[in-house]
Amino acid sequence: MLGVMDSFQATIDADGRIEPRDAMPEGYRKTLIRQIAQHAHSEIIGMQPEGNWISRAPSLRRKAILMAKVQDEAGHGLYLYAAAETLGVDRADLLDLLHAGKQKYSSIFNYPTLTWADIGAIGWLVDGAAIVNQVPLCRCSYGPYARAMVRVCKEESFHQRQGFEILHTLCNGTPAQKEMAQDALNRWWWPSLMMFGPPDASSTHSEQSMAWGIKRHSNDELRQRFVDMTVPQADVLGIRVPDDELTYDEATGRYSFTQPDFAELYEVVKGNGPCNQERLAHRVKAHEDGAWVREAAAAYAEKQAKKMQGSAA
Ligand SMILES: [Fe+2]
Ligand SMILES: [Fe+2]
Repeated sequence: MLGVMDSFQATIDADGRIEPRDAMPEGYRKTLIRQIAQHAHSEIIGMQPEGNWISRAPSLRRKAILMAKVQDEAGHGLYLYAAAETLGVDRADLLDLLHAGKQKYSSIFNYPTLTWADIGAIGWLVDGAAIVNQVPLCRCSYGPYARAMVRVCKEESFHQRQGFEILHTLCNGTPAQKEMAQDALNRWWWPSLMMFGPPDASSTHSEQSMAWGIKRHSNDELRQRFVDMTVPQADVLGIRVPDDELTYDEATGRYSFTQPDFAELYEVVKGNGPCNQERLAHRVKAHEDGAWVREAAAAYAEKQAKKMQGSAA
C-alpha cells in the first residue's frame, strides 16, 4: 500500500497540483506559508512608496490610474493571505509576525520614491521584475497559490505598462523630464536586480523549493531574463541602464551585466535599508487605525450568525 507521502511525491513527479486537503510534508507546508506570507506582505507594504504620490500625481488621469494600481496591490495581498489560510494559518497571525519583524517583505519597498519618475520606474522595473518572478509561479505545485498568481500576473502586466507609459511620456518631454527619468532608472536599476534574491551559489531555500515544484527557475536565471527583457525597453525610452559592463552577446541573444551589490541586499533585508523603519511603523499604525473596522465586521458577522440561528430554530 502507498503511504500518504508517496502520493504527495507521485503528484509532484507527475507535475500535478497539491490541494489543501492533500497530505503534504511539514516542510512543504512551512515553506509555502513563509513564501506566500512574505509575498502577501510585499503586496501591501508595496502600496506605500506609490501611495505617497497619489496626492501629487501630475494630472487627474494619472491620479486615477495610480489609485487603481495601488488598489490592485491591496487586492493581491488579499488573494495571497487567503491562499496562505488554506494551509491552516490565520492572516491575523501572519500580520502580527510582519509587525513584529519576524516575517519579511520584499527589500525593494525599503527605497524612497523621490520624484514622479520613480512611480514610472517602479511600474516598469519593480512590477516588471515581479512578473518575471511570478509567471512561473502560475505553475507552482500548490494549487491555491498557482491560481492566485494567474490573476495577479494579468494585473501586474497592466502595472508594468502604466509605469513604462509614464517614463515614455517623460522621455519625450523636456530635457529636464528626460533627466528625471534617467535619474529614476539609475536609482532603481540595482535594487530591481536584487529582487531576484541572492546568487544561486548562496541561495539557501532554492534547491528544496525546486524539487517540490514551488520554484521553477533559479534566481540567476530569472535575473538574466529580466535584464534581457528590460534593456531593449530602455533603448526604446532612450535612457541608459547604469551599467558600463552591459554587453549583448549575439550568439546567445543574452546580455552580460554587472551583478548588484548583494552586501547592500543583505543589509536591507536585515532592516537597515533607507525606509525599513518608516514602512513598518506606517503599516503598524494603519493596522491599529483599522481596528474599529475589524471589530465592526466581527460584530456584524456575529449578529448575522445569530439571526440565521434564530430563523433556523
Ligand atoms: Fe502586485
Ligand atoms: Fe503590481
